[in-house]
Amino acid sequence: MNLAVKLNNLQLPTPVICASGTFGYGEELKGLVSFKNIGAITTKTITPQARAGNPPPRIYETEYGVINSIGLENPGLEGFLEEKLPMLVKLPVKSIISVGGFSQEDYEGIVKRLEDKKEIEAFEINLSCPNIKMKKMFSQKKELTYNLVKSLRSLTKKTLIIKITPEIDDVVEIAKAAQESGADALSLVNTFFALSINIETKKPHLGSIYGGYSARAIKPLALYKVWQVARNLDIPIIGGGGIERASDAIEFILAGATAVSIGTINLVYPNSATYIAKGLKDYMKRKKINDINELRGGMIV
Ligand SMILES: Cc1cc2nc3c(=O)[nH]c(=O)nc-3n(C[C@H](O)[C@H](O)[C@H](O)COP(=O)(O)O)c2cc1C
Repeated sequence: MNLAVKLNNLQLPTPVICASGTFGYGEELKGLVSFKNIGAITTKTITPQARAGNPPPRIYETEYGVINSIGLENPGLEGFLEEKLPMLVKLPVKSIISVGGFSQEDYEGIVKRLEDKKEIEAFEINLSCPNIKMKKMFSQKKELTYNLVKSLRSLTKKTLIIKITPEIDDVVEIAKAAQESGADALSLVNTFFALSINIETKKPHLGSIYGGYSARAIKPLALYKVWQVARNLDIPIIGGGGIERASDAIEFILAGATAVSIGTINLVYPNSATYIAKGLKDYMKRKKINDINELRGGMIV
């Protein structure tokens, strides 16, 4: 039975990827999880400088999902190189480095600095960060997306995965801008904006007022975006948003995703990716499918 997939030139043993920000830098989860069936882990987004993140509380569980406003807490590029990368590359699992920033130069600087690190195979460019000058997230504007991806493409031969915000009218337009400027693959979706208020104190539940909504509640919304892009463009997609079990992952693959990302559920069950990969195998056996790639885009309409 084949579970291996390719995101252009990045080969993964299984399509199950741990999503950025929900799996640390892998090392933190060592001893708690089995890496055996995980396709890859995506690191917490790194920015040029270390960041302490937003004021607490930074995570709030609602009836159906989770709102977070971590604020890109991370050790910064040099901290990542000193403290995180040496451990990350020793883990028995592939890794994808998530890159963030607040200007085009921020992203360029990180990619340039990491380009000669042979042990790094792939970047996921987190385009849900705000462009300070434009006061928009990079992937909310097709010009910002196009220019940034084109520049990064000229700086790296590693796999370039572009992660897009769902907070846009036309996801296909942004996805197309990323594809045309040289992306190898897309990652859909990041969190949706959300707010929750404590009616006793009349204060928002999060220290920075609003945050990004994830988990079960967003699955049908995310699935729709993935399907929209998959039916219009020919580019590998990492699909995710609210995946908690194998059946969720199968829906994303049937909608056209090549791989799937497992996010918030890792905070509850860190071994979720392994269970989901096992569930994919069970489904394939039951449906007599030998190769996971046969399942992609297989929704019957
Ligand atoms: C606590 C938390 C931190 C996150 N941090 C990042 C991040 O640093 N970079 C990023 O691209 N996405 C980040 N995300 C978004 C996830 O990677 C994922 O795209 C999103 O949560 C949707 O998937 P899910 O519903 O399975 O969690 C974060 C999500 C959560 C819940």
